[in-house]
Amino acid sequence: MARRGAVGPVRLAKRTADRVLVTLFGPRWLQFRARRVWDRHARTRSLEATSSHDATDADTYWRSGQRDWGLVLAVANKAGLPARGTVIEIGCGLGRLTRIAAADFDRVIGLDVSPEMLKHARIQANAANIAYELVGRDGRIPATPESVDLVFAWTVFRHMSKEMFGRYLDEARRVLKPGGCLAFEALIRDTGERANPSTSDANTEREYDSEELEAYAQRHGYEWAADQDPLFKDIFYRQLLPELRNRGKTVLVITHDDRYFHLADRLLKLDYGQLVATPKHEFNFDQPVLAAAPGR
Ligand SMILES: C[S@@+](CC[C@H](N)C(=O)[O-])C[C@H]1O[C@@H](n2cnc3c(N)ncnc32)[C@H](O)[C@@H]1O
Repeated sequence: MARRGAVGPVRLAKRTADRVLVTLFGPRWLQFRARRVWDRHARTRSLEATSSHDATDADTYWRSGQRDWGLVLAVANKAGLPARGTVIEIGCGLGRLTRIAAADFDRVIGLDVSPEMLKHARIQANAANIAYELVGRDGRIPATPESVDLVFAWTVFRHMSKEMFGRYLDEARRVLKPGGCLAFEALIRDTGERANPSTSDANTEREYDSEELEAYAQRHGYEWAADQDPLFKDIFYRQLLPELRNRGKTVLVITHDDRYFHLADRLLKLDYGQLVATPKHEFNFDQPVLAAAPGR
């Protein structure tokens, strides 16, 4: 019986071959691998492979795009970006978010490593201001320098090596206008062992700890501007708290998350040492945000 956690000879050989190919061909090899895996997903299980955690059928799949786009847009707004201009989505998949982004911005370009995904996305495209394109074979974003207002990636960077993620950080920075914004989702784990799969492992998703992620983005020239783990916060405030309330529990939440204040039944603020009640109509109605980094 194999020792738990031990790497079998086939996997070991694959990993070694992978490392050699990465050394020889860099991003080109990484992208080639990604393309093969995601083309296969697009042919066999396109909805499932690209869905958000709570999508159960085609209807909830497309609707989940509204909520996820809302998170992206809130980051962009928080970074001071008006909802206009050009947007690039890295790893657009079937265009679940691209289609919705097109209603808020002048032009949206959905990029993907998988031609098969893009084939599906083009069929679903519902507006003239959407274009779908392949990313360059080495991860190059097909756009001129300083021409894009917002770059975003949703559940994409978790599927690639740290090197490829870094390549996209650089590419996004190159194409962003000064003051532009990169908003992305990442898997964050601050306790326990983080998943750090080799590129030959297409199933495990890569995790980062918050400090590492922030330092990495900074190393690539970004200023960090957002909350960590916004999805968890969203679930906490919008699902767990109402469930507790429905069970008749009183929950006292001590928080700086002012964008969720409107969900409270009563809001008390500490004002110069005094507890002061805030009337409901003065609650803040901002949206939740996800990890983001505005460029330059
Ligand atoms: C989980 S899906 C998410 C799709 C879309 N962002 C959404 O939320 O509906 C991941 C997408 O990223 C794409 N992808 C994976 N690796 C990539 C890479 N290295 N470069 C560009 N796209 C990539 C896949 O083809 C796939 O469409």
